Amino acid sequence: MDQQRFPRKRTYLMCSPEYFTVEYAINPWMDVTTPVDRDLAVKQWDRLRETLVGLGHEVHLLTPEQGLPDMVYAANGGFVVDGSVYGARFKHEQRTAEAAAHHAFYEAQGWRFIAPGETNEGEGDFAYVPEAHGGLILAGHGFRTEIPAHAEAQEALGRPVVSLRLIDPRFYHLDVALAAIDDANIVYFPGAFSAASQRVLTQLFPDAVIADDEDALAFGINLVSDGANVVLNSEATRLAGKLKAVGYTPVPVELAELKKGGGSVKCCIAELRH
Ligand code: ARG
Repeated sequence: MDQQRFPRKRTYLMCSPEYFTVEYAINPWMDVTTPVDRDLAVKQWDRLRETLVGLGHEVHLLTPEQGLPDMVYAANGGFVVDGSVYGARFKHEQRTAEAAAHHAFYEAQGWRFIAPGETNEGEGDFAYVPEAHGGLILAGHGFRTEIPAHAEAQEALGRPVVSLRLIDPRFYHLDVALAAIDDANIVYFPGAFSAASQRVLTQLFPDAVIADDEDALAFGINLVSDGANVVLNSEATRLAGKLKAVGYTPVPVELAELKKGGGSVKCCIAELRH
């Protein structure tokens, strides 16, 4: 039986891939010898932006900067919950300068900003499920974000943070292995997590949608959902089918160029939560 799903209007932050390249490799997906078609990247990114606007969401734009080719992955610049922003502190020096650009955006918009002391890559490694257990933050560690940042985020945002250990370098950020699909539920690929973390997820989310390696490798889990419409990578046809079977509406978008940097839909989008 098909379940009715209801969308909730979202506010997002994105950054155009105007200066996107793959000139260094900091995750297994990046290959500096693969040519990137930047015009196509911009076109595909723009389709993603239009898709979100078409679904009724508000999209803010961060000004891209030359020399910061990964700035298009706007999810990594901070983590916003209840109107407060826990700022990012990137692991790799190639991306360090992105944090200041995000900080300046949030300051100019008047958000409460908490500067980080610990290494963390924003929504790349933090997810928020507002109606799970009263409002739960899920946090990844193992490759980028460090465990002390989880405690720091909890103090900054006043919500419980559950630490999850990522074990597969192909899934180096939480947001390529797990995503909120509505205010109370998630989809995830168990194989990306340690056995203990898988148990924690089973306990907290007994009704989660379970993705497999094929779904995850197609970057299907790197999705954005408004509670009803699930915007996801067009290659992830099987995951789209699984989500459809439980009442969501998959909205496929093509992001082949940005996959060369190791990211897809979610990586390009930060959610600004009031
Ligand atoms: N090239 C970027 C990096 O390795 C990709 C970031 C993808 N972003 C994400 N939220 N998973 O840092």
